Amino acid sequence: MPNTVYVLNGPNLNLLGTREPEIYGRETLDDIRVALEEKAGPLGLSIDLRQTNHEGQLIDWIHEAQLKGARAVILNPGGYTHTSVALHDAIKSVSVPVIEVHLSNVHAREPFRRHSYVAMAARGTVAGFGPTSYLLALQAVAAF
Ligand code: DQA
Repeated sequence: MPNTVYVLNGPNLNLLGTREPEIYGRETLDDIRVALEEKAGPLGLSIDLRQTNHEGQLIDWIHEAQLKGARAVILNPGGYTHTSVALHDAIKSVSVPVIEVHLSNVHAREPFRRHSYVAMAARGTVAGFGPTSYLLALQAVAAF
């Protein structure tokens, strides 16, 4: 699956659209999937978007992306961004490039969101542009 981009979403992102809309907006994860698919087609890429509330599941999917030969992983780790050494280690354990994305500008919020275990291991980070963060990450993948 060399043209497949895994788009992995962590805890609470299943509630996008109704979860703190003043921070995360009104678009759902399904809206983001549709926008990504629209952009991916002309780039010759396909999107495999998933969401889980479980840390270990995110790690298994990162390993799977490597095993299946995915082009890249776009990862919104949710709150695990700021807590998970295991997620950091998983990204370091694979060669598939991982791009960290956030809907909100994590640097302009509570101090605990300024530190990311994922950023240290990721190829790059896009944050603060709402669903456009995902589209910008996809653009970066196309430019690899
Ligand atoms: C988030 C930012 C995180 O700090 C938060 O825990 C989330 C969402 C974002 O997309 O802005 O769940 O990753």
